Amino acid sequence: MSINITIPLRKLGNSSTEISALGLGCWQFSNGKGLVGKFWASLDQADIKQIVEMSLDGGINWFDTAEIYGKGQSEKALATALKSIGKEADDALIATKWWPIMRTASSITNTIDARKQALDGRPITLYQIHQPFSFSSVQKEMEAMAELHRNKKIKHIGVSNFNAEKMKEAANVLKGEGLSLASNQVKYSLLDRRIEKNGVLEAAKQLGITIIAYSPLEQGILSGKFHKNPELVKKIKGPRKHMSFFKPSGLAKTQELIDLLEEKAIKYGVSQTQIALNWLIHFHGDTVVAIPGASKPHHVQENIGTLTFKLTEEDLHEIDEVSKQVAIF
Ligand SMILES: NC(=O)c1ccc[n+]([C@@H]2O[C@H](COP(=O)([O-])OP(=O)(O)OC[C@H]3O[C@@H](n4cnc5c(N)ncnc54)[C@H](OP(=O)(O)O)[C@@H]3O)[C@@H](O)[C@H]2O)c1
Repeated sequence: MSINITIPLRKLGNSSTEISALGLGCWQFSNGKGLVGKFWASLDQADIKQIVEMSLDGGINWFDTAEIYGKGQSEKALATALKSIGKEADDALIATKWWPIMRTASSITNTIDARKQALDGRPITLYQIHQPFSFSSVQKEMEAMAELHRNKKIKHIGVSNFNAEKMKEAANVLKGEGLSLASNQVKYSLLDRRIEKNGVLEAAKQLGITIIAYSPLEQGILSGKFHKNPELVKKIKGPRKHMSFFKPSGLAKTQELIDLLEEKAIKYGVSQTQIALNWLIHFHGDTVVAIPGASKPHHVQENIGTLTFKLTEEDLHEIDEVSKQVAIF
């Protein structure tokens, strides 16, 4: 069974900017550099170009990167790919992030030109505070972001990994500046349902804040490939193999969900990955968008297929039930 529909673009927060329900996560473009860049194996620029081009061809219109992803390597690789494909700013919106740890809010203003430079002068549609931990208050950070907005250095303001309280505080400070908080980027997948319990999702819905779901495939687990072939876990470069979902007990615990995703994949004539992503972008209406990363061009080729169908209400709820039973959080 396949229900083919055209999925319209969604508003980013309460703004008039329209984004696709999937963006591309670009942490994988870090080139093995910096604090968190070694998490993924290095990709060559030809593969990055292909991944970016396939994303755009498949209906993705925005890309999520960050200063900390290879100390600007990911931003540079993304900008290089977009230039070589000949894409204009309006065709490929960029969301990037300021790294707050061991810094004060003054660094938001002081480092923006470096971000612009890494992005080859491309506009920053969404600028996010990567983590809630810094030497400055949320108030000071939001004031600095508002100043960047006034100076036309960034279009929209977002946060990431903020709990409900801090997210509401950020939204409130921006309201005082005549602005609104566009998004909160948080970990959310069929195996991590914390935002449904800790008030983040509820507050986001009330305030019209877009939830950007990171690690939406639980870093590859929800594709089912590690369940089918557990030997693949041993070949992983980087720390993922030590994480609970990748251990034999984690694979055993999540098998029931993977089996259901496979059953639905057969029913819709799509892949398990597409079912997992489709659930994320539809279960809560338009509030949640997702940013799957791709280590190989064929990943993105598969993942963009998510945008071409919609799970029925009955299937959304059936997957919800099993997910709740096996989700670790
Ligand atoms: N704000 C934050 O603190 C934060 C934190 C984490 C991530 N992020 C953002 O979120 C994005 C996505 O999160 P993530 O990279 O952690 O996790 P993810 O999107 O859940 O997983 C991505 C990985 O899953 C595998 N994969 C993807 N598509 C696949 C497919 N169709 N079939 C089989 N395997 C597939 C690939 O890994 P292998 O092929 O290597 O197995 C890929 O690198 C990042 O790129 C980044 O932009 C933000």
